[in-house]
Amino acid sequence: MINYGKHYLDKNDISAVNNVLKKKFITQGNQIQIFEKNLANYFGCKYALAVSSGTSALNIISKILDWKKGDIIFCSPITFVASSNCILQQNASPFFIDIDSKTFNIDVEILKKKLKDKNISKKAKAIVATDFGGNPCDWYNLKKISREHNLTLINDNCHALGSSINNDKKYAVKYADLVTHSYHAVKNITTGEGGSILTNKKNFYDRAKVLRSHGVVKNINKSEPWNYDMIELGSNNRMTDIQAALGNSQLKKLNKFVKFRQNLAKIYDQNFTDTRYFLKQKITTKNKSSYHLYPLLINFDKVKKKKSNLFSYLKKKKIFLQVHYKPIYKFKYYRNMENFKRLALKNAEIFYNKEISLPMYYGLSKKNQIKVINHIKKFLNV
Ligand SMILES: Cc1ncc(COP(=O)(O)O)c(C=O)c1O
Repeated sequence: MINYGKHYLDKNDISAVNNVLKKKFITQGNQIQIFEKNLANYFGCKYALAVSSGTSALNIISKILDWKKGDIIFCSPITFVASSNCILQQNASPFFIDIDSKTFNIDVEILKKKLKDKNISKKAKAIVATDFGGNPCDWYNLKKISREHNLTLINDNCHALGSSINNDKKYAVKYADLVTHSYHAVKNITTGEGGSILTNKKNFYDRAKVLRSHGVVKNINKSEPWNYDMIELGSNNRMTDIQAALGNSQLKKLNKFVKFRQNLAKIYDQNFTDTRYFLKQKITTKNKSSYHLYPLLINFDKVKKKKSNLFSYLKKKKIFLQVHYKPIYKFKYYRNMENFKRLALKNAEIFYNKEISLPMYYGLSKKNQIKVINHIKKFLNV
């Protein structure tokens, strides 16, 4: 059976977890602090806050930025729902900007045009941009726009652990005010479930830390060691020490994982070269993708085949692909909202009709990769 994604655990990961299980603290021990320190070192930020998932990271961010009804937050329609759900959590309005037809990231030119409309720009508060599949967005221009319009810049970096701009893997926090990670099992490293918020801004970090744990602050009165206060409405968004131990062990392998993914991508690149049938994600020369995903766009019309039939054909061969993603505004919950009832963004729609995500994970054998490639080509008859 070949899936589109899969985690990889070795004996060091297992013993790291086992060690915590033998310790006194399995929730809030020292592994969390070590993980946060390691994250801050690897990704070059002053503050890293480990949380229970990429979704909690985004939800906490939406709270610390005080988004509210009437605020507009720009985001891509081609990303995981959590990227825009965090906006709705605060009753603010997601404003979907179409993707660039080549990079599949938020289209900066369209964003600029939208911001020329005063009715939009006066309500705009932030941009949540996803480095889709691992391909860094046009962060230089996103930063410029965010400065011009006083917008907070958020990098939903969940796909891009180990990606780089100009060989700099620490790029995300250099551009964005806040960066989110997910360590879900199919991501480039895993803690089972888990995530983090990275930032250089102390005020963001301090508030996010309080919101990670019910809005509670401790040590408020030296003479009353039992006493704590709740200063805002939070929830439990904590990562456990068990997960953090796994994260510490996985982080040591991130470079190796990414290299492997990049090699897989090279082989896909070499095998899907015919531009009459295939469109690959454009990664500009200064960017390197960490390839959480390998999205391939297939011209199904040209070959007179259906995407659904490709999926059933591959399923019979025990190959299980996915589509990342259906444009968020097409989901029922969004369609029920006036703004999104009839929304159809051109490039996002084309992307959705054509995209498949090829198997991409550490440990995928050459033999299985070639099997996938050959079956796809055989089905398409190309
Ligand atoms: C782009 C993106 N953002 C956010 C998330 C949410 O992360 P998690 O599954 O850890 O909650 C994901 C995970 O699938 C994602 O791919």
